[in-house]
Amino acid sequence: MKVLLTGASGFVGSHILDSLLARGIATAVLLRPTSNRRFIEQHLSQIEVRLGSINDLPSLRDSMHDATHVIHCAGCTKALRVAEFYDANHVGARNVVETVNHRRDHIQRLVHISSLAAVGPAPPAKPAREDDPPRPVSEYGKSKLAGEREVRENCRTGFVVLRPPVVYGPRDDVLLYLFKAVEFQLLPTFGGGRQALSLVFVKDLAELAVTSLTHPAASGRTFFVASPEIVTTRELAKQIAAQMNVRTMPLPLPTAMLWPVCVIRELLSRLTGRANVLNRHKYVELRSPAWVCDPSKLRQELGFECSMDLKKGIAETLAWYRQQGWL
Ligand SMILES: NC(=O)c1ccc[n+]([C@@H]2O[C@H](COP(=O)([O-])OP(=O)(O)OC[C@H]3O[C@@H](n4cnc5c(N)ncnc54)[C@H](OP(=O)(O)O)[C@@H]3O)[C@@H](O)[C@H]2O)c1
Repeated sequence: MKVLLTGASGFVGSHILDSLLARGIATAVLLRPTSNRRFIEQHLSQIEVRLGSINDLPSLRDSMHDATHVIHCAGCTKALRVAEFYDANHVGARNVVETVNHRRDHIQRLVHISSLAAVGPAPPAKPAREDDPPRPVSEYGKSKLAGEREVRENCRTGFVVLRPPVVYGPRDDVLLYLFKAVEFQLLPTFGGGRQALSLVFVKDLAELAVTSLTHPAASGRTFFVASPEIVTTRELAKQIAAQMNVRTMPLPLPTAMLWPVCVIRELLSRLTGRANVLNRHKYVELRSPAWVCDPSKLRQELGFECSMDLKKGIAETLAWYRQQGWL
């Protein structure tokens, strides 16, 4: 077995690499020449690094020349321009599928990391299920749906599509903002703090990605990957504050205020040339009342459950942030 992993330099992909190597699976990674290797430095002597891009077909073909399995985790979650979402999440997935098809004499399975955003918001009373009609609300979500469709409709070898909701854990620089606000003794909430969320701890997602490579019941299937716990954004901030042992002042951000904040962050991103997670597209996701999905199909069909509970997941994340000096 030889796995080719894309997106290994990123938050989720670096944990997938940890899981692959922990199971002793021979792995090659596709990195861009500019990819920051800080999260995978410790593994560089055990893996093969293949330089290229999911937007460059010849380099993709080279990267998969000896692969028996592929995990496609590369993607764009923050962008300065809408086209960047589609270039990475749609065209990139199309290129991966085309290459896997070209190499299907030896590639047995493609595991594709999608997102709950591809399906759209859903409330706790009616959590998103795998066969619900997708209704993505953001450009990011639409681009992820387009990528999923490339896999489902065109992949001519075995494939698995995994749809995580918000992913958190060590190396995540998005939920870090909430930890930082709490460190400043602020408890930010928007829309009254009532937005309900499904979450997944990154190591659970990574374990499932690796399990999906060979699980006989996974082929051709799509799964939501989430912890069964559902939290509101207020409860999440309070749990973080409790574990940091910090007394916080409420910082309510009504939805109407969130819009100018997102617009200003987007303008700043354009000025600095560095994409930020807060922008007009993110606003569409933030103002949705709930992002909840039902992971029961995963348990029933694969016997897999996300085992990390939120309290322990926050504790491990917090310890990592502190150890790295991120907080
Ligand atoms: N984080 C979440 O909460 C979340 C939730 C649901 C789904 N997801 C999905 O999980 C995947 C990973 O997300 P993440 O949070 O780990 O993001 P991330 O930290 O930004 O990592 C993205 C990875 O994709 C790579 N990449 C982007 N464009 C590429 C290209 N053209 N060619 C080769 N590699 C490219 C990046 O490489 P460079 O280092 O070169 O930039 C990086 O390794 C994405 O598909 C995302 O949609 C994430």
